[in-house]
Amino acid sequence: MKLIVTETYEAMSRAAYGVIGPLVSKKKDAVLGLATGSTPLGLYRLMAEDRTVSYRDVKTVNLDEYAGLPAAHSQSYAYFMRENLFRYLDILPQNTHIPNGVAPDPAEECARYDGLLDRLPRDLQLLGIGSNGHIAFNEPGTPFDARTHIVTLAESTVRDNSRLFDRIEDVPKQAFTMGLADIVRAKTVVLLANGRNKAEAVRRLIEEDADPALPASALKQHEDLYVILDREAASLLHETA
Ligand code: F6R
Repeated sequence: MKLIVTETYEAMSRAAYGVIGPLVSKKKDAVLGLATGSTPLGLYRLMAEDRTVSYRDVKTVNLDEYAGLPAAHSQSYAYFMRENLFRYLDILPQNTHIPNGVAPDPAEECARYDGLLDRLPRDLQLLGIGSNGHIAFNEPGTPFDARTHIVTLAESTVRDNSRLFDRIEDVPKQAFTMGLADIVRAKTVVLLANGRNKAEAVRRLIEEDADPALPASALKQHEDLYVILDREAASLLHETA
């Protein structure tokens, strides 16, 4: 594990871009696993601003999508990706993949996504982490060998995500998520965390043994894992505190 502790959110984002930028410059047809949420926004701004890098042949595969929200819905993750990243890049829309939140047959949609993940081995998977240690929407207790599935969101996740909705009742209660088995299949994994509310999950990830009670700990055995933190997310680590 390469643990990188930075001073600020901006420095964390720059450190992440220091991994992703050179990868895409070198490998024009890279496959990137992407995440939504507040954490990667600074990184996405850096990707959008750097006109020297082309995404013409890049493919992306996102981690998750709310069940019941169509891609055009302003709270869907498909919308988030278009608004915060894709519209600034020369990436082709058909090369960007996100689970279909309104698929008529959810089981078939999960199987379709698994097939996609098999066909498109990711060079890099970007991750945030939930305050309860979830990655993608793999909530505590998810088996490490899970593939794409529908999940009922933990109460803490609904609460955390409600800041982006008008009312907590509007937060969808279910989501499609890539499973832990597929997340760890990416060649390189970059997990970002900022802010005090991530510090305990980060501490458990770094200092405790792998345990499905902390889904992110499925990453511990990964051979090319970057954990990039700001000072607050690192604040409970015993070695760097
Ligand atoms: C998003 C995702 C989630 C978030 C996590 C942290 O696609 O899969 O696991 O990474 O909930 O969210 P933020 O970044 O908003 O704190």
